[in-house]
Amino acid sequence: MYSAVQPSGNLTIGNYVGAVRNWVKLQEEYEGYFAIADLHAVTVRQEPAELRARTKELAALYLACGIDPEKCALYVQSHVSAHAELCWLLNTVTYVGEASRMTQFKDKSQKHADNINMGLMDYPVLMAADILLYQTQAVPVGIDQKQHVELARDLAIRFNNRYGETFTVPEPLIFKGGARIASLQDPLYKMSKSDENPNASVFLSDDRDTVIRKFKRAVTDSGNEVRYAEEKPGISNLLNIYCAFKGCTIEEAEREFEGVGYGDFKLAVGETVADVLTPIQKRQRELLIEKEELKRILEGGAERAYKASRKTLSKVYRKMGFYRE
Ligand code: TRP
Repeated sequence: MYSAVQPSGNLTIGNYVGAVRNWVKLQEEYEGYFAIADLHAVTVRQEPAELRARTKELAALYLACGIDPEKCALYVQSHVSAHAELCWLLNTVTYVGEASRMTQFKDKSQKHADNINMGLMDYPVLMAADILLYQTQAVPVGIDQKQHVELARDLAIRFNNRYGETFTVPEPLIFKGGARIASLQDPLYKMSKSDENPNASVFLSDDRDTVIRKFKRAVTDSGNEVRYAEEKPGISNLLNIYCAFKGCTIEEAEREFEGVGYGDFKLAVGETVADVLTPIQKRQRELLIEKEELKRILEGGAERAYKASRKTLSKVYRKMGFYRE
């Protein structure tokens, strides 16, 4: 299994429930590789000092959330040079047409119209290199990355046809999982890390008071019953969040909050979320203070990734006819 996240922006509780927690579960079943995708991050402008700080913070956060360096390789993408090398080689089997048709490339070109650089278009090819280097079977990603995993499949198949069996053809593993967490201010939209309204999203870095305040301000619906229903998107979203953090079913939560007013319900959701986040934040802080441990874990991860990736990369060089002794 292979997945990665970019060290940009803050993670929300939606990312936690939808992605991070799934990784933590999947590491039990698969041999996993998880990268902090810093080479991807620089396809949009980054402040160097911030990129460096965020890379460490994100690695510490993933560990704090339960990624276990004994079970899988957690590493920083740029520490393993095979990614950039395979990206170059895969560029030669990628058509400009297919790369320029990627939805995310088109979206980002609009959003960063003053910086449509080569890297932005090459982004999915680098991602294919990430995946294919490890003979990956499963790629857990959000739905927005599905098209990129499909490109990785196409490139693997094309390369195998042209040069002989080299890559495992990967499958996307799309997170569905019950709860899709929506904005606290407009529950018809997904909770997003880039929402302009600061009360719309709860971040994993929010302290207890902030978490509780944001839930207090969450929009609710008319009526006064804590009940899951299509015409009650605000309350339904809060129930989803409550259940995801409490580990209970909607029915159990509805029963628990029977006769309870919206105000007290919102307070309970806030406290439940804060109770999960507090120990994660504490562990993350410890890892960032005790620098040696984090350094050692990331070095170990990079070493494992280096070994696995070298095998594939040597094979690719040989198949393509590069001179090797
Ligand atoms: N592009 C992914 C995202 O933004 C991150 C990523 C980089 C990734 N390389 C990957 C995800 C390889 C899965 C597999 O979410």
